[in-house]
Amino acid sequence: MLSYLRLEEMASIPDNFIDDLIARVELDDLIGRYITLKKTGTRFMGVCPFHGDSNPSLSVTPDKGFLYCFGCQEGGDAITFVRKQENLDFVEAVQFIARLYGIPVPEAASDPHATRRRTLIDINDKSREFFIKVLKSKYGKPFIDYLKSRGFTKETVLAYRVGASFNSWDHLTKHLTKEGFKNQDMVDAGVAISGKDGKSIYDRFRGRLMIPILDTLERTLGFGGRAMGDDEPKYINSPESPIFQKSKVLFGLDLAKSACRDSGQLILMEGYTDVMQAWQAGVQNCCAVMGTALTPEHLPIIARFAGEVIMAFDGDEAGIRATTRSMMAFAGSDLNVKVLPLPSGSDPADIIRTEGAEKFRERAGDAIKGEAWLFRTYGEPVRNSSITDRIKAFEDVAPYLIAYSSHPIYDELQERAAIAFNLNLTALRTAMKNVAQGSRTIGRSEAGRTLEAVIKGGEEIEKVLFLSLIANPKHLPEVKEHIEPEDFDQPLHRRLARVFFQPGFALGTPEGLKRLREINEDEDLYSYVVRLILEHDEEALKGSEARYSEADLKFCLLHMIRRNYEAESKRIQSEIQGAMPDMQSGDTGRVNRAKELISKLGVARQELENDFREISYQLGGEKVSWEEEIHA
Ligand code: CTP
Ligand code: MN
Repeated sequence: MLSYLRLEEMASIPDNFIDDLIARVELDDLIGRYITLKKTGTRFMGVCPFHGDSNPSLSVTPDKGFLYCFGCQEGGDAITFVRKQENLDFVEAVQFIARLYGIPVPEAASDPHATRRRTLIDINDKSREFFIKVLKSKYGKPFIDYLKSRGFTKETVLAYRVGASFNSWDHLTKHLTKEGFKNQDMVDAGVAISGKDGKSIYDRFRGRLMIPILDTLERTLGFGGRAMGDDEPKYINSPESPIFQKSKVLFGLDLAKSACRDSGQLILMEGYTDVMQAWQAGVQNCCAVMGTALTPEHLPIIARFAGEVIMAFDGDEAGIRATTRSMMAFAGSDLNVKVLPLPSGSDPADIIRTEGAEKFRERAGDAIKGEAWLFRTYGEPVRNSSITDRIKAFEDVAPYLIAYSSHPIYDELQERAAIAFNLNLTALRTAMKNVAQGSRTIGRSEAGRTLEAVIKGGEEIEKVLFLSLIANPKHLPEVKEHIEPEDFDQPLHRRLARVFFQPGFALGTPEGLKRLREINEDEDLYSYVVRLILEHDEEALKGSEARYSEADLKFCLLHMIRRNYEAESKRIQSEIQGAMPDMQSGDTGRVNRAKELISKLGVARQELENDFREISYQLGGEKVSWEEEIHA
């Protein structure tokens, strides 16, 4: 979070202070706060928290002030340990330890920037304390009632340090003046606004519920002030300042960081209240962007706590746009991004309230890969449209692909985009070149057109697969042969496949339908199948049976197989990455193991190709344009 403060602040912590700090900290006490240590002679042994061990291979030598793990060969001092354990950078770790032991960090007077930021943070910290006092006072009653009416518990309110501002022009500024702060500093800190005369100031936040925005060191950077009831605007936020930049701050990270680290996952939401509701329900690895999309500047902050981001934005058009823009921020990055699409009209807080935390976690577990979401959202509504429409829609996401041009997954991404947008690779590459050169072939697509189509029940690969299976029941055996229920992304589709793929199940017959009802008492599923059948019949009535043709079935089947392959290949590739040092180790056993992995990847690829060939043979029909490219 504080990467932008790092260099200047580094300079502001004198070296001898760091040496003193290390000398003063009892290493066994510090580490003993995290793991159990057992004394053996002059040193202590414990289970190393860094490499998933169960043997006590971490040795701590307080006399010398260092630790060393015989298991993972990590070693260092108190700062190294805290950096790893708390996911902090160097300066933050120093500050963390100093704070833990109540040792004040001296500030070099030579750095005016650091001093200035300190003042602005002080003002925000003091304001936060003031707002909490207001909430606890008799003036806080309506705010407390409001919080209660929204189902927030006391614990949540305390954890997020929620407060309230007086409905007054000068309560806070007067208080801060008494604390010795200058007018201009209060204005720069964002809590006050300059009057027209240029001299006087007044409170920015008046009569609002005050949600403080903290960094990972729990310093107050700014506030979101929510209106009570339906007043407009709903939120007044701190303005951009040297300490508060929306493009670099994530709300709630202070409380989410350890859960993020434990799970390796960060769930990204749009609103303050979503994060607080989620936290209260026990889903504690959530943060929010503040009414903006994620920016590339957020990524290094996220990467310190989690390797995977799940975007759970509101299920409305604005949410889809924010997800798309955020996806663009991830373009070219190595973070693993997934999208959890929410039902239209609901936000994460709604889902947690109505379905419960467990169901929400389940949904998060079913989140789809970011690029799959992107391609699906923009590609599928135009899949059967004219080539012009398909290229137009593709050009909207082309920048995402271009960002990966020097990345090993570039070819794969292109192939997948080609599938999703039903374009051949040549057309796709031409479109990308045009976008890269700033000259789109066909001009911008009408904004939001594709989005609208998706929201209004746009189709998805999995659904089209079922629809074309209903239209072509004779191919059920081939489909069963190549994919499994677990291969479907959507839970409902997984359930549906489990029924369809039962031995002896006959599709497309009245008996089949009856059977479906008998073997599965799942009402939702049954009505879904009925809907699919109706949808299919309607298309057929329109005389456009070709819509769910054998070619469609083949297309979807290939798409899903490719998707499986990608997941598998990614898994193997990361194993290979891990085995690279082995390759260079010269140790025959380890080298062989690494070679084995590489050949496993080859086998997976071969299997994919076999599947492709076999399906083409079995399903025949028109050649899918991108098919040859698969073997290139
Ligand atoms: N936001 C903002 N200014 C607004 C509206 C929204 O800054 N006028 C930002 C806030 O960070 C807010 C987020 O956008 O948290 C999401 O907006 P919204 O869904 O409207 O707010 P919620 O936080 O979900 O608030 P509530 O549940 O109280 O409606
Ligand atoms: Mn919301």
